[in-house]
Amino acid sequence: MVAGDPPAAFEFKLKAIPGESPATTRTSENAMPHNRLDGKIALITGAASGIGRTTALLFAREGASVVLTDINEPAGHAVAAEINTQGGRVIFEPGNVTSAADCQRVTERAVREFGGIHILFNNAGIIRRASVVELSETDWDRVMAVNVKSMFLMSRLVIPIMAAAGGGSIINTASGWGLAGGPRAAVYCASKGAVVLLTKAMAIDHGPQKIRVNCICPGDTDTAMLRNEAQQLGEANEKFLAESAKRPLGRVGKPEEIAQAALYLASDASSFVTGTALVVDGGGLAGS
Ligand code: NAI
Repeated sequence: MVAGDPPAAFEFKLKAIPGESPATTRTSENAMPHNRLDGKIALITGAASGIGRTTALLFAREGASVVLTDINEPAGHAVAAEINTQGGRVIFEPGNVTSAADCQRVTERAVREFGGIHILFNNAGIIRRASVVELSETDWDRVMAVNVKSMFLMSRLVIPIMAAAGGGSIINTASGWGLAGGPRAAVYCASKGAVVLLTKAMAIDHGPQKIRVNCICPGDTDTAMLRNEAQQLGEANEKFLAESAKRPLGRVGKPEEIAQAALYLASDASSFVTGTALVVDGGGLAGS
């Protein structure tokens, strides 16, 4: 394994302790606990693709009951079917996260069918690659609505449910471009910067209710969004991906690597962590 490779299943040997059972070889697959979210109910937005989809599968494997929502109905049903086949407990409720009525329908269904919500992953997002002079007013409003307003709409419904249950964890997907600017991404940077400070403000307001609020700042991650960016900029995928890989670890991220950060923030492993912006970017921002 090369330094910086993704955490594929690896082997390690346990040394024999004198007088105890003999040494065994284990893989990370069977050594890792698979119950870090046992008994938890997690609502995930943007769950039909990329980071949301991978997180839904991981959370379900870790024992959570997962409530998925996405505007892409066929893909959302497909993710739910995949989780179902693997023996997970899942609901998919289609919805547009910019609609207050849709957010309400999703949260009501979670409470009706699963009995509550302990984890909210506000993850749905879109990107427009344009400077302010290139951007239409419609695109400005759409990006701000999907990337930021959605978090307000979902969180204001879910926080009272979490508070009644004694607490919870909210995870917002921000971006490296919520901490540093990027070229021809004005509204995206504005929206993700807003997510970082929304996260901190919510952490202050809801800490007393034992609700932790954190965000993840992924660097370029290999999902449909990254390919869509290349298309918007009129660049070939290969060239765009090669440019995106220029960071200390020399590659773009995998959705699994962002999902693992979401798992950490969702689980009790992060019980004293709130108001933080967790950068997961292969070192992309290390020099800024
Ligand atoms: P993706 O395009 O694979 O997934 C985004 C999902 O959000 C899609 O399933 C889409 O249908 C859904 N969605 C879009 N608008 C919606 C709406 N109005 N209502 C409900 N669902 C909606 O992209 P990816 O990469 O998985 O993105 C997830 C999050 O990660 C986004 O917030 C994105 O900004 C963020 N991010 C992604 C990075 C990357 O390089 N892929 C880097 C930094 C942040």
